[in-house]
Amino acid sequence: MTKKIIAVTGATGAQGGGLARAILADPSGGFAVRALTRNANSDKAKALAKLGAEVVEANLDDVQSLKEAFAGAYGAYCVTNFWEHFSPEKEQQQARNMADAAKHTKLEHVVWSTLEDTRKWVPLSDSRMPTLHGKYKVPHFDGKGEIDHVFTDLGVPTTFFLTSFYWDNLIHFGMQPKRGPDGKLAFTLPTGDAKLPGMAAEDIGRCAYGVFKRGRELIGRTVGVAGEHLTGAQMAEALIRVLGEKVAYNAVTPDVYRGFGFPGADDLGNMFQFKRDFNEYFCGARSLEFSRSLNPHLQTFAAWLEANKGRIPRE
Ligand SMILES: NC(=O)c1ccc[n+]([C@@H]2O[C@H](COP(=O)([O-])OP(=O)(O)OC[C@H]3O[C@@H](n4cnc5c(N)ncnc54)[C@H](OP(=O)(O)O)[C@@H]3O)[C@@H](O)[C@H]2O)c1
Repeated sequence: MTKKIIAVTGATGAQGGGLARAILADPSGGFAVRALTRNANSDKAKALAKLGAEVVEANLDDVQSLKEAFAGAYGAYCVTNFWEHFSPEKEQQQARNMADAAKHTKLEHVVWSTLEDTRKWVPLSDSRMPTLHGKYKVPHFDGKGEIDHVFTDLGVPTTFFLTSFYWDNLIHFGMQPKRGPDGKLAFTLPTGDAKLPGMAAEDIGRCAYGVFKRGRELIGRTVGVAGEHLTGAQMAEALIRVLGEKVAYNAVTPDVYRGFGFPGADDLGNMFQFKRDFNEYFCGARSLEFSRSLNPHLQTFAAWLEANKGRIPRE
């Protein structure tokens, strides 16, 4: 049987890596992985090749390289990395390039990793949160959501795939509980009592694999995924159980969070405020039952923590 090739952008990263590993772990599933990377010689690219992926070099900024990398594929997973450059405009150009290449190569199914354009809920005139860079509320969300239409405009068969907060941010993004001057751990979020849809980053790719496996069913649809919807207090409780140490939930205001001063603190402060203020919508768009139907191995926060507790910094 000829396998359907999925060209996976971001294959050396969290989302694309999860998808690549999900496909490679299911050799009878009918799909094969073409892993796209700027550097086929990186350790992560070599690890994918070792697992059985075809690794090809391509750059999201170079549409010709994408056309070559997508050629002959059945589908593509398209993801951009805002945090490498902090530019919504750059992300949008990369999305245009991927849509162009998908159209050119007549792909049958694209999964576009997007997020909400929060300005549909919080227009720029709404003063509850600051406007950033003159035209965004949550730049790393808004830029993605605003460009969804390029795939539709070009007639590319696309599933719009809404992802959730990675619990892995507690390992890689400095969001782990931190020790205060009293030596005690505190877990800080500006979401009050609202529930935060979150998931293991690896499960995003596994859910994306489920989307491809559904065939045409989810083309033209926006679907969201999450592993659990938990309040900050519930996350702190789970952390206490797994770390075996008291963790206080430090519920700060979005204003305080925006003032933390690390790169992107204002963007993330607005993002958490959006999730808090439009919580019913935001959780509703990320159904746990649907996510589990795409990925029967979907992890809970407790299970993810148990498997990863040794990797969470505890200073
Ligand atoms: N952190 C969260 O909680 C969270 C939640 C939801 C959504 N997101 C979104 O996730 C996105 C990042 O995805 P990720 O976490 O999977 O990324 P990641 O783990 O940081 O890895 C980035 C990936 O993007 C690839 N890449 C970056 N620029 C490229 C370019 N110009 N050409 C080709 N490949 C390029 C890299 O490939 P090479 O380096 O190998 O070329 C790498 O595979 C962000 O846009 C963020 O907004 C994050």
